Amino acid sequence: MSITSKSFDLKKRMRDALQGGGSKAIKKQKAIGKLTARERIIALLDPNTFHEYDLFVEHAAKDFDMDKKYLPGDGVITGTGMIMGHPVCIYAQDFTVAGGSLGLMHAKKITKIMDHALRLKIPLIGINDSGGARIQEGVNSLAGYGEIFYRNTQSSGVIPQISVILGPCAGGAVYSPALTDFVFVVDKISKMFITGPEVIKTVLGEEVSMEELGGALVHAEITGNAHFYSESEQECFDQIKQLITFIPWNNMKKADSFPKKPPKTRKYKIENILPTDPRQPYDVRDVIRAVCDDSEFFEIQDRFAANIVIGFGRLNGETIGFVANQPLVLAGVLDVDSSDKAARFVRYCDSFNIPLITFVDLPGYLPGVDQEHSGVIRHGAKLLYAYSEATVPKTTVITRKAYGGGYIAMCSHHLRADFVFAWPTAEIAVMGPEGAANIIFRKEIMGAKNPDEVRKQKITEYKKKFANPYVAAAYGYIDAVIEPEETRKRLIHALEVSSNKSQITQKKKHGIPPF
Ligand code: HXC
Repeated sequence: MSITSKSFDLKKRMRDALQGGGSKAIKKQKAIGKLTARERIIALLDPNTFHEYDLFVEHAAKDFDMDKKYLPGDGVITGTGMIMGHPVCIYAQDFTVAGGSLGLMHAKKITKIMDHALRLKIPLIGINDSGGARIQEGVNSLAGYGEIFYRNTQSSGVIPQISVILGPCAGGAVYSPALTDFVFVVDKISKMFITGPEVIKTVLGEEVSMEELGGALVHAEITGNAHFYSESEQECFDQIKQLITFIPWNNMKKADSFPKKPPKTRKYKIENILPTDPRQPYDVRDVIRAVCDDSEFFEIQDRFAANIVIGFGRLNGETIGFVANQPLVLAGVLDVDSSDKAARFVRYCDSFNIPLITFVDLPGYLPGVDQEHSGVIRHGAKLLYAYSEATVPKTTVITRKAYGGGYIAMCSHHLRADFVFAWPTAEIAVMGPEGAANIIFRKEIMGAKNPDEVRKQKITEYKKKFANPYVAAAYGYIDAVIEPEETRKRLIHALEVSSNKSQITQKKKHGIPPF
């Protein structure tokens, strides 16, 4: 064969492999607003940076007439490329080829690119659009998933792992994303469930649509399985690009530094955010924006457990992980979901060298039978564990209430915050003045001629004594009581002096967090 005919042969093979599942399947994909797998990769990566591997991999199945079937690329596209100038490994399942189902060779392509990512120490991005284990390939499909889950776990905390759900992902196709750091979903396109509506109908006799069972909103709002929700695939890719700018390539690096920018102080005046009535709520995101460079705050899981706010911003050009009680929702209490949400984020930041700043304003843990029976003890303990374990620089600002277990859990000195600041409006106590007065002065109140009058008097007395930052400051639990306007300056200084922080931890294989 001459070089010309050999390159003709290559071109033909490439043409065949690049056709995916064929025009009919592609048309079906497009009709429901989905891009094809290759289009998705191109849309996400920086222009002309995608390099594909294993294009000519073919499936190895023999049963059920599979040996007569050609599945281009075995239904998954893998390669490397750049996002915002950062190198990444990427795979995208091709639903037009056997429903993106995962057989032996499909899994081998994915695990190969996962191995590259871990060896090269760069982020892994998986675009998932798959009916799960390829039924015809039996145990080989299950083995393939097992190999993926193992690698997800080995890579966890070493390289960032990002999952994008862009289709009906069932069975094994959802467990790999669940093991990764960030899950992105798109309205009407993403579906995630272990067993689909058909199985549920057969086994339980319950009828439920795919959307109701595991649509994008379900996972963004109710289950918390998704971290980012968007209305279109393009919006989703823009979110991923933004995320990539905030995180480092791996756990040995720091996130990129950006030019320093002051906050937009005209819009976010930190001294005016707290309402004069301490019972009135405010949006804690305004406090975060008031201290961040350019007032840019990239929120994560904004629809799930909204009583706590988590996300990235920058101070003096450096990425910071923010955790803040949200007084707008349930007065910012800690409960099962908000503890889970915050604890996981704290561990992410700690793994990837991202300093933590915590804003505190909460009445404590949410009381109630529902919470107790849902395991608030175990879930709440996750936050204690995560903050205690974290060795990145940790700075805390108490803006208003810091009551009870909430005071301790929200990165107090006792969990080894490096610096704790309090605004003059801070109230640090075992519980709120009303509850406290009712308990400790119960006999006096009940025995009084005018109980209401005495109750009011005792509440005022208690507030004067304890509902302020000075008792805690007197014991050194607060490093400085500061005016709100000083907050950014204090935080930047705290970060500057913590930049060489190194903390020796106990020698152990690993701890046993209250999973
Ligand atoms: C083989 C599959 C497949 C699968 C889909 N296909 N899922 N082939 N194995 N798991 C094929 C279909 O046969 C069809 O092929 C093509 O993909 C498109 O599928 P449709 O059903 O036409 O598409 P749609 O109507 O959009 O429905 C998508 C779907 C549905 C919801 C994903 O296909 C479905 O329910 N699939 C099975 C999902 C499931 O139960 N998976 C769990 C597997 S067990 P043709 O040739 O007709 O175009 C599992 C266990 C792992 O994953 C556990 C690890 C912990």
